Amino acid sequence: MSFVEIEQVVKRYGGSIPVDHLSLTIRQGEIFGLLGPNGAGKSTTIKMLCGLLDIDQGSIRVEGISIRERPLDVKRRIGLVPQDLALYERLTARENVAFFARLYGLRGALLQERVDEALSFVGLGDRQHERPGAYSGGMKRRLNIACAIAHHPKLIIMDEPTVGIDPQSRNHILDSVRQLNRMGSTIIYTSHYMEEVAALSTRIGILDKGHLIALGTQEELRAQLAEEERLVVQAPRVSPEAVRELSAHPRIRRVAECEGRLEIHARPGQAPLQDVLFILSKHEVAIESLTRVEPDLEALFLSLTGRTLRD
Ligand SMILES: Nc1ncnc2c1ncn2[C@@H]1O[C@H](COP(=O)(O)OP(=O)(O)OP(=O)(O)O)[C@@H](O)[C@H]1O
Ligand SMILES: [Mg+2]
Repeated sequence: MSFVEIEQVVKRYGGSIPVDHLSLTIRQGEIFGLLGPNGAGKSTTIKMLCGLLDIDQGSIRVEGISIRERPLDVKRRIGLVPQDLALYERLTARENVAFFARLYGLRGALLQERVDEALSFVGLGDRQHERPGAYSGGMKRRLNIACAIAHHPKLIIMDEPTVGIDPQSRNHILDSVRQLNRMGSTIIYTSHYMEEVAALSTRIGILDKGHLIALGTQEELRAQLAEEERLVVQAPRVSPEAVRELSAHPRIRRVAECEGRLEIHARPGQAPLQDVLFILSKHEVAIESLTRVEPDLEALFLSLTGRTLRD
């Protein structure tokens, strides 16, 4: 059953269109990974989904309810962990969680119970009476998650919850996402870290310049590339002539160059390894290493856009 339906959604800012006729369906019970480079339109999409930003065109429905027509009924179903931390520095951690829980209508004993539950879920039970100012970046992120889950939302949306935090908090957050999902919440998780999205998601959508450029399970996305061979050449200086000659090779589909690295995408079949070596040595390129790599989401993004996820 489709839980979230995004249909032909457009957002404009002056001349730019950060979300451009985006259509996407999220199924109940899945962990949906929305992957895309900086500026792809992930946060803009999420803000529209949560009713924090008006939709210029198109529609978004959660459990069949239109965010435009019945914003409160949609908001009640959602817990948002925003990309920019939303915490009150003057309140303690516990008071922060209670504040958000009250906004969602929780009161009395149930409120206290849910606040306890949320704080212990994110591992902050023993530091709940401190203000977030005393917290590390990772702890603030976890508190941000506690604020989003105390009201037991059916849909939890996390917008880049692991940016700039220590590995321990990061693992804690990734485990929490899985656990929240097991407990019944549908999850939308945005990131520009391919590895995270690949490790967590049941399905993945790749967003670029406001367009969905790929959608499917990891296996389905990989299958799009299974036919392709990829060679990575580590070489500090490659002349434009060498790149041009490689690109012109009939078996080579694409050559991408970044930070002393050449990525060569070859057509199906035997990779033209000998030819690559021949061309590079003809142009006197000093090769530090040459590897044949298995396709991953990064490779898919590169093959679809000609750019890397982290340009
Ligand atoms: N309030 C605004 N006014 C004008 N342009 C905006 C505004 N908010 C976002 N944009 C532009 O919309 C585009 C998409 O931004 P968005 O924040 O949705 O990207 P993102 O995928 O979340 O990126 P990131 O990974 O950096 O968080 C960007 O080009 C951004 O500059
Ligand atoms: Mg963002």
